[in-house]
Amino acid sequence: MPHSTDNNSAAQQQPDKKPEVVVHPVPSRLLDSQQCPTPHITSMDEYRRMWKESVEEPEKFFGNLARDILSWDKPFETVKHGSFDNGDVAWFLEGELNACYNAVDRHALKNPDKIAIIHEGDEPSNVRRITYGELYRDVCRMANVLKKLGVRRGDNVAIYMPMIPETLIATLACARIGAIHSIVFAGFSAESLLDRVADCGAHIVITSDEGRRGGRNIATKCIVDTALSRQEAHQVEHVIVYKRTGSEVPMMENRDLWWHEEMANARPICSYEKMSAEDPLFLLYTSGSTGAPKGIVHTTGGYLLGAAATVKYIFDVREDDIYACMADIGWVTGHSYILYGPLTLGATTVLFESTPTYPTPARFWELIDKHKVTQFYTAPTAIRALQRLGDKWVEQNDLSTLRVIGSVGEPINPEAWNWYNEKVGKGRCAVVDTYWQTETGSIIISPLPGCTPTKPGSATLPFFGIKPVLLDPSTGKVIEGPHQSGVLAISQAWPSMARSVYNNHSRFIETYLRPYPGYYFTGDGAMRDEDGYIWIQGRVDDVINVSGHRLSTAEIESALNTHESVAEAAVIGGHDDLTGQCIHAFVSVKPHIKATEGFDKELTLVVRKTIGPFAAPKRVYIVNAHPKTRSGKIMRRILRKIVNGEHDQLGDISTLADQTVVPSIIEAVHGIKQ
Ligand code: WTA
Repeated sequence: MPHSTDNNSAAQQQPDKKPEVVVHPVPSRLLDSQQCPTPHITSMDEYRRMWKESVEEPEKFFGNLARDILSWDKPFETVKHGSFDNGDVAWFLEGELNACYNAVDRHALKNPDKIAIIHEGDEPSNVRRITYGELYRDVCRMANVLKKLGVRRGDNVAIYMPMIPETLIATLACARIGAIHSIVFAGFSAESLLDRVADCGAHIVITSDEGRRGGRNIATKCIVDTALSRQEAHQVEHVIVYKRTGSEVPMMENRDLWWHEEMANARPICSYEKMSAEDPLFLLYTSGSTGAPKGIVHTTGGYLLGAAATVKYIFDVREDDIYACMADIGWVTGHSYILYGPLTLGATTVLFESTPTYPTPARFWELIDKHKVTQFYTAPTAIRALQRLGDKWVEQNDLSTLRVIGSVGEPINPEAWNWYNEKVGKGRCAVVDTYWQTETGSIIISPLPGCTPTKPGSATLPFFGIKPVLLDPSTGKVIEGPHQSGVLAISQAWPSMARSVYNNHSRFIETYLRPYPGYYFTGDGAMRDEDGYIWIQGRVDDVINVSGHRLSTAEIESALNTHESVAEAAVIGGHDDLTGQCIHAFVSVKPHIKATEGFDKELTLVVRKTIGPFAAPKRVYIVNAHPKTRSGKIMRRILRKIVNGEHDQLGDISTLADQTVVPSIIEAVHGIKQ
């Protein structure tokens, strides 16, 4: 088992270095029914009893929950099926339901005038409110458009769109007709979009003329055109283009269709497909240690239950709440916590098109004040960035409607946690540090607002159905005692876990279920303290987490390798106070090539163009050679230590084929001649 729990920089957080772990009790306001609706769970005894039942009698627990939260067209008989060993996990077999019906129809039929989506546009004055009734009609129209274009149950549809209501409409329309949506984050380059469209084999791509973010236009359609000009995407028959900015964009005859024209001719009624609980709902590509991004497959019943149940219990959402998740719809957080979770519960979801600092660093806080937001969810990088810009921005607004504020995507350092709690939550809100992954479908470790005492920096305790264990990376044995680090694994299946990697089930098994047989392997290291609280320490594999964006070193390396002058590239994650981790790239050039000034910038540009701007290395070092073992493997551990300033503690370097490369690398990084 090749995982070491100290090989990644996030592990530097070292929460087990006591002394001052402060325990925060549940704010009394949350338990005062005069001030707040009583939380769903109000005591640790109740949580423990429910958690115990959820892991010991999952059939009973999740059977009841699935009947309670979701509407089924055909009841299920088997709640839980299969095993990690066989790789055939399934939930709610025989059951039939439709995710769009659950997220839209049932609320539209009961309460058509209720606001489903508040769209806070890039310009603060640009706000759209969409009722469940309107959403229902538009989703039906789009579903009819897709059907007319030949999309059938089980087909894939790619969506490459900015943060606008039409993105949710397109996504729900796919779910309605049983098409599998594959949303590609609109920050990805043409190249990355192409890889994903080619892998999923979509015949239809839905996009917009442009995007708008932070006052700037983004050439969305142009990126789609570049991607589709390549042979690998030849199967795409149609591109549906929503007019977001109205800028002139080329439309390819017979292929490109305007959204507004198609919608105008479509009927606002469309029956929904009764899907099997195990039919795929969507694919979402994510980076792993090796190879091309994987199309993670989520299915209808279990996924939807996980998304809705976590919004109910972890954010304590009520029907009249205004729930605001600041993630992008292109990542899993957007899928579960902008779209499926809140809408399945019939709440109002806020869709935010802009950035935390546009036009001023008060943007988030103005948004909360303006829309009377009750739950707010963002990432530690945003919290740290806003904290740095000073308290005055947060102090100008009324944030008193907030009850739960959440953090996701990367470890949150206690300093940022405390600022979030004190300045944003005013000490009156539950702070939920939520740990999960694309593959887990929904949050798996988190406090619950009405009962869990919190410790800044710890995601605390498992959600219902989750049985976490720490494993010794060298023996694979379970670590029992407190204050020891291990790899984090989950010992039994839960409803919203990924079922497969698209078209590559063996890769799914190899990546998640084989490394530690009998367990789902998360790829993260963690420590458990004396209260059973989990402290996530960061990835133990070659995944780097920059501002909560998940990237693989292999992907960045192969982007660098496309430059004709590059002989070899090695990428590692270093610590960064703002973004959690940042990318350091070590590049050697081919013989007879001289790296001229500005070559590092040129290489950064290659990565931006190949993957997307968010993947740009912070530093590129041109080196003569890499530290390698005799068998030619690059020892990234050494690069990591040098970057982290630990070059006097490199440990045993006798296995290096050539030890003399080390001083030259130290010099390249720190400018110190050894
Ligand atoms: C990291 C995002 C610490 C972790 C939902 C995980 C976290 C990866 C937390 C998944 C957290 C996510 N504390 N680390 N609260 N939440 N992570 O697939 O390393 O984009 O494996 O899903 O983010 O990233 P992904």
